[in-house]
Amino acid sequence: DAAAAPIRIITGHVVSPTRDRGRTIDLEHGGIAVQGDRILAVGPAGEVLDKYPSASVEAHGDRLVVPGFVDCHAHYSQMTMIASPGLQLLEWLKNYTFPAEGLFADRSHCAAMANFFTDQLVAHGVTSACVYATVHPESARALFRAARSKSLRIMTGKVCMDRNAPDYLLDTPEQAYEQSLELLEEWHGVDRLEYALTPRFAPTSSSRQLELLGRIAEEHPDIPIQTHLSENPSECEWVGELFPDESDYTAVYERFGLVRKRSVFGHATHVSESELDRLGAAQASLAHCPTSNLFLGSGLFRLKENRRAPGLRIGLGSDVGAGTSLSPLASLNEAYKVSRSVGEPLESFEALRLATLDGAEALGTDHAVGSLEPGKEADVVVLDPESTPVLRQRTDYAQTTEELLFAMMLLGDDRAVHSVYVAGAKVR
Ligand code: GUN
Ligand code: FE
Repeated sequence: DAAAAPIRIITGHVVSPTRDRGRTIDLEHGGIAVQGDRILAVGPAGEVLDKYPSASVEAHGDRLVVPGFVDCHAHYSQMTMIASPGLQLLEWLKNYTFPAEGLFADRSHCAAMANFFTDQLVAHGVTSACVYATVHPESARALFRAARSKSLRIMTGKVCMDRNAPDYLLDTPEQAYEQSLELLEEWHGVDRLEYALTPRFAPTSSSRQLELLGRIAEEHPDIPIQTHLSENPSECEWVGELFPDESDYTAVYERFGLVRKRSVFGHATHVSESELDRLGAAQASLAHCPTSNLFLGSGLFRLKENRRAPGLRIGLGSDVGAGTSLSPLASLNEAYKVSRSVGEPLESFEALRLATLDGAEALGTDHAVGSLEPGKEADVVVLDPESTPVLRQRTDYAQTTEELLFAMMLLGDDRAVHSVYVAGAKVR
């Protein structure tokens, strides 16, 4: 059992948000004691080493030791068409995305892609993620299996879509209901896995399908839900035509009971004040997906403005394959530039929090992960400020932790990920 497991200490420059929003842990010579899958203690290295004199030590010197990153929105089916150019959302889906997802009718493709994707999550320092599979139930199973074998904290679900897509990707309302429920019963709560109810977005689900999914949501009030919301102007206009009785896009999901705590809405770049207020009142979450929004030209997310809606949770998403990188550092790089463009620059500690604890809050897992605090699961990433010549040159001259972190996020990517601990086990 965990209490009898040997204690290990990871030392380095420990930086982490805390559940106390104003406070960031910043220990240049810090230490984290880990026992089994849990964090036992965090503090100055000397103190932690003195407290557990027989512990083994993994010393990371000047490297940054941060919480495992949380990706609130990604499509594992889209790794074969990431960086497909020239189109905006709806044409991009038709031309590139749907054909790539069609390949998941093949079990062996599901398994190969699930293995590749979960390996790449780890390589990019992502230890928790909320991920879309495809319409094929086997695609969700394959991801659950791969994630379980690597102890990753993954939420996923079979995509539900019964209209406005090629026939080979359509289910029916009844299939969506039965298959989602079956997968939920099989996988929800197994190790670190959770089932996420996954209607793709309003245009590809009939009212009947959303109604049946709403029934599952009602019967399972604690499960996560993921979908897309107000990403692109043509999409928003189309939703207005498809659901003429609803006052806005958010109202479509509200009508079917899909707006609540742990509902994670991707993008939300074109939502009104009223929608933000209602999303906040429901304690729902948004996934800010800057590399995707810039790549598809979808719009600019107003992070600080949106944060003002009481109750709203906002995390960071890669949204690969519309997003162009699985690296949370790369997403923060673009998030910073978006924040500059809308006149509210993102700061370093705030950015680190966005990619870790804010994401965990958005997914409803902040009790378990997202920060380096005693009692949490030991998901830890070690970042190397010397991973490239330019990064080394810059970080040699960084005066403060904020400067160092900022340079890491503007200049770093998966090459900066030196080591990764997942639930206490060193996997990289
Ligand atoms: N909206 C509906 N489906 C998708 C998708 O696969 N990617 C993105 N970025 N937006 C979507
Ligand atoms: Fe998406």
